[in-house]
Amino acid sequence: MNIFITGSTGFLGGEILVNLSKRKEVNKIYCLVRAQSEVDAILRLDKVFSFHGDHYDRDKVFPVIGNLMDADLTAQLIANKELNDINVIVHSAANTSFSGIYDRMVEQTNIEGLEKIVLWAKQLKNFNTFLHIGTATICGKEVKNRLVKEEESPNPNASHVVSYTHSKAQGELIIRKHLPANKIVIARPSIIMGDSRDITPRSPVILWACATINQIRLIPADPQAKLDVISVDYAAEAIVKLLFAKRKHDVYHISSGPEAATSAAELSVAFEEHFPDMPRYCFVKDDMLKQMKLLAKNKLPIGSELSKYPEYIQHWKDTFGELSSLRILFAGLDPYLEFLNLGQVFDNSKLLADVDMRKPTPAHEYIVKQMAYLEKLDVFEGAMDF
Ligand SMILES: NC(=O)c1ccc[n+]([C@@H]2O[C@H](COP(=O)([O-])OP(=O)(O)OC[C@H]3O[C@@H](n4cnc5c(N)ncnc54)[C@H](OP(=O)(O)O)[C@@H]3O)[C@@H](O)[C@H]2O)c1
Repeated sequence: MNIFITGSTGFLGGEILVNLSKRKEVNKIYCLVRAQSEVDAILRLDKVFSFHGDHYDRDKVFPVIGNLMDADLTAQLIANKELNDINVIVHSAANTSFSGIYDRMVEQTNIEGLEKIVLWAKQLKNFNTFLHIGTATICGKEVKNRLVKEEESPNPNASHVVSYTHSKAQGELIIRKHLPANKIVIARPSIIMGDSRDITPRSPVILWACATINQIRLIPADPQAKLDVISVDYAAEAIVKLLFAKRKHDVYHISSGPEAATSAAELSVAFEEHFPDMPRYCFVKDDMLKQMKLLAKNKLPIGSELSKYPEYIQHWKDTFGELSSLRILFAGLDPYLEFLNLGQVFDNSKLLADVDMRKPTPAHEYIVKQMAYLEKLDVFEGAMDF
């Protein structure tokens, strides 16, 4: 099997690449990498392998310099004769930003960029599988407090918390427009947070939200809303196993499912145990975020509900100094809190039936191994990144 993978320098893609490189069934892996030169591209792949001390087999794993935003990417790939024998494409690259300022780039990468890869795949002679990494959150924000099944998405009428999930839904439609169902496998992870092994995760994404919430402690969210979270090592293992499994379906959630779903309340217990010197977690109505943002702008009207929580306001002053510095944290948290309040849990019964996979560990259990990393996480630096 010869594989072409995109997004292998990313959080999930890096774990998928390392996992694939250890499989005997895999002959060669070509990785689309954004880089200025061959040397730069090799260095980037070297970093992916060395991150957790894995071996980079340069006779098996090769970089292909390219960018999903390049207008002529399809032509570049067609012209590269080394890629003629690709059988499998694993498409993990995406612009995962939640920030509105990147909306156009998100579209260009996740819809137009994806289409360039699909158009190239279409003309490959030995191509048999397009494994696309989607996201379970394409179901949209009207779906609340219930179990979501794969068949419900993509729903063209769904409305979205962020443009990113809309673009991922459009991406799935593009794949189906060009490729027959028997060549498509869509793996839709839920929310990927941290690593369940006792190691530094490749990315602080989502853990950043946890670390920020942990420092704020007054949380405008429903503590009981179910939250479907998995670790990156679980997601990568499931996706690679899915590629080699006898599949009965072409779309799979890669998720905690109802049994291993967590909640803000359960996560808060784990955090309070590890950080006992902070105020206790206090959950308030989700519209309190507006008041918190006003406070950070020094525009909170006198007599507002938020002034009933002086202990937390003092804690913020002690922790962050100027309250105005909270603006960036609250703005960054906004979409995460909205996802948290949706209470979506993604059915994982298809995955567990077709793939030899252990049951996922609830996030409030494995997060304990990430506490040392969380302690060091600079929440302001993280907020600037997203
Ligand atoms: N993380 C989650 O919670 C989550 C949940 C569900 C689904 N997913 C899906 O899982 C996949 C991987 O996500 P992730 O968390 O690994 O994201 P990530 O850490 O942001 O990695 C994104 C990857 O895409 C590459 N990329 C972005 N723009 C590109 C472009 N224009 N041309 C070429 N490559 C480009 C990045 O390359 P550079 O290194 O050069 O930037 C990086 O390798 C995505 O499809 C995402 O939608 C993620």
